[in-house]
This record gives sequence, structure tokens and C-alpha cells, in this order.
Amino acid sequence: MPTPAKRIAILTSGGDCAGLNAVIRAVVLHAAELNWEIVGVMSGAHGLISRPPQTMALDVTKVDTVMMRQGGTILGTTNKGDPFAYPMPDGSIKNLSQDMVEGFRSLKCDALIGIGGDGSLDILLHLAKQGNFPIIGIPKTIDNDVCLTETSIGFDTAVAVATEALDRLQPTAASHDRIMILEVMGRDAGHIALEAGIAGGADVILIPEIPYDIQNVANHIKDIHKKGRNFALVVVSEAVRTQEGSKMMNELYGGQKRMGGIGHVIGAQIADLCQAETRVTVLGHVQRGGQPSAQDRLIAAAFGVHAVELIKAGKLNRMVAWSNRKVVDVPLEDAVKRNQQVEKDGSMVRTARGLGICLGDA
Ligand code: F6P
Repeated sequence: MPTPAKRIAILTSGGDCAGLNAVIRAVVLHAAELNWEIVGVMSGAHGLISRPPQTMALDVTKVDTVMMRQGGTILGTTNKGDPFAYPMPDGSIKNLSQDMVEGFRSLKCDALIGIGGDGSLDILLHLAKQGNFPIIGIPKTIDNDVCLTETSIGFDTAVAVATEALDRLQPTAASHDRIMILEVMGRDAGHIALEAGIAGGADVILIPEIPYDIQNVANHIKDIHKKGRNFALVVVSEAVRTQEGSKMMNELYGGQKRMGGIGHVIGAQIADLCQAETRVTVLGHVQRGGQPSAQDRLIAAAFGVHAVELIKAGKLNRMVAWSNRKVVDVPLEDAVKRNQQVEKDGSMVRTARGLGICLGDA
């Protein structure tokens, strides 16, 4: 029996990452096989506030093979402004959720596919409940902190970028007898730092889940010097802190707060304690842009196809996920309950310790 024709809305929400275009393409291609229509919503759920909502008709002619290789998202996205408490230009806070729900209804779509991190997926689930419309979540974030999935779109590329940075820092560190600090993103999860640190041969990896003591870090580096090596590589997650300290935040234009800059603080302390030349690289948004890795493209393809299959099967309000080498799905409600940090005695932490890498706590 032919599948009844459907019209599906899709949007990307939260910070961008590599692989978003690849997943949009996969959804459009699989929907086209079923003769379904896909409507792209622009700028995350914010595109639903404008009247008419800002959208882009997505058919196979819009998603050529170039698109899956490109970073960013053709739909645009935003990680500013919770619709339930939206900061208005006059300084007031307004709940715009009903405007978004009505915007979605005006599109006359049967379901929404939301591609987002834990925060965005939580917001989209709340909107879907308020508007009583079906939703499918697709996890994406370089931070890899979405629960109930082993990986999210964008993480593999970010780890590859951070690992390449260490590959590039190592020879220059060795040539100049320097200690190189690499600050990476990841918000409150240390997955990028830990995995890139191990893959890139770091001597010290500091992650938010394990408070560090700068004296332990300095002792480890002094030991390396004593053994005759003239350089060291230190990877620092943006949200690291000492036991008593707090993470470093900066206020940006418009009052937004973001993490960043702790690498410079730690770099100055290490230079002082080790009496050695120390340089700091803050990798920043380089981790989010650029071509998606092969693995991110594969995961994006599997997630996109599965999201459409779930709607076809009437299995709604689910999040696609990666588990044991295959694509699965889990209740979206459960996936957004908490975020997934590095397990303090998990396999990656034990691997790092087993290699003699200092994690700052000893
Ligand atoms: O969540 C992804 C992420 O890149 C975090 O790792 C980082 O803390 C944050 O977004 C940066 O956000 P923005 O793009 O607003 O600077």
C-alpha cells in the first residue's frame, strides 16, 4: 500500500556544527522516495515567529552532493533566546512560544524534525507538547553531551580538528622548547578534550568533570622536563575549574554569557610554576566549521533516513540515536532529561590514566 503523502517541517537549532547539511540532505532524499514534501524552517524555531514564517521549500534539486560536504547549515540556526523567556529589544522578557506554535500550525505540516543539542531539543519538545504536534529529534553537537546516544552529529569532526591542532602544535613546541596549551570547546562536558587529547598525544588533559590542582599539572610537566623532554602539550576544556573555583565566563555583545579564556589563566600559572615558556591556542569556532568527517556524514545519513522512517511508521516523539554500531531511537523525553558528561571512571578516563596522562587531580 503506498504511504500517504506527508508534509514535514525541518529546522536546525542551537550552535552549528559540521554535518548539519548532510543530515538535511538525507531527510530530503529519503522523503522524496516517499513523495513527501519537506519545508525548511529558517533560523531555528525563530523562523516560526515571522508572519508568514520564514521557510525554504526543500526538494532534491536543493540538496546536491556539494551540500553534504559543506559545514554550517543552509537553514541557519540560533543559540540565542529561549522562546519561553525571550529577551525583547526593549529589555523586557516575553513568552513567544505560542507565536511559534501558531507559526508551525500555519505551515500545515504533519510533523517537525528538529536537529539540535540537548538544550534545543528540550525547547522543541516543550513547543511540540504545547502545540500538540509530533516531533522527531536528531542529536547534533560538537560537545557530544546528548544523552542516550553514543555520538551526535559534529562531534567526530570537532575531535579531528582538535587532534590536528595538537599534531601541528607538537613540532613547533619541540622546536622552541615550549609548553603548548590548547583550549577546546565542549561546554560542561570534556569529551572533545579527552578524546582529542588522547589521540593527539597530550601530556595533560583538563576536563570539567575532574577538578584540577595546578600544582599537580606543574609537577607532571617538571617531571617530563627532568626525564629529558623539552616540550609538553596541555589540552584544556573551556569549562575546567579547580575544586574551589568556578568556570570562566565572559559577557559578550548583547549580554550573552559564554565560556572561554581559561587556557590563558592556566598557561600563565604553568609558566610561573615550571619556569618555562608557555603559549596558548584557543581553538574556538574552528571546531564547528569546515567539512564534516566521513563518520559525521555517515551518522548524518543514518539519522536522516531513520527520522523519516519513524514518521512513516507513526513512531513519534522519538530521538534517533547511535548505539552498538547502528541507528536506533529512544523517547525524546528521556533524552533531554539530563546531559551526558564524561564518566569519571569510564573507559576513556582509564585509557588516559593508563597512558600516564595527567588529568590534574594527581
Ligand atoms: O554547544 C556548542 C558550543 O560550541 C560549545 O562548545 C560552546 O561553549 C558554545 O557552543 C559556544 O557558543 P557560541 O557559538 O554562541 O559562541
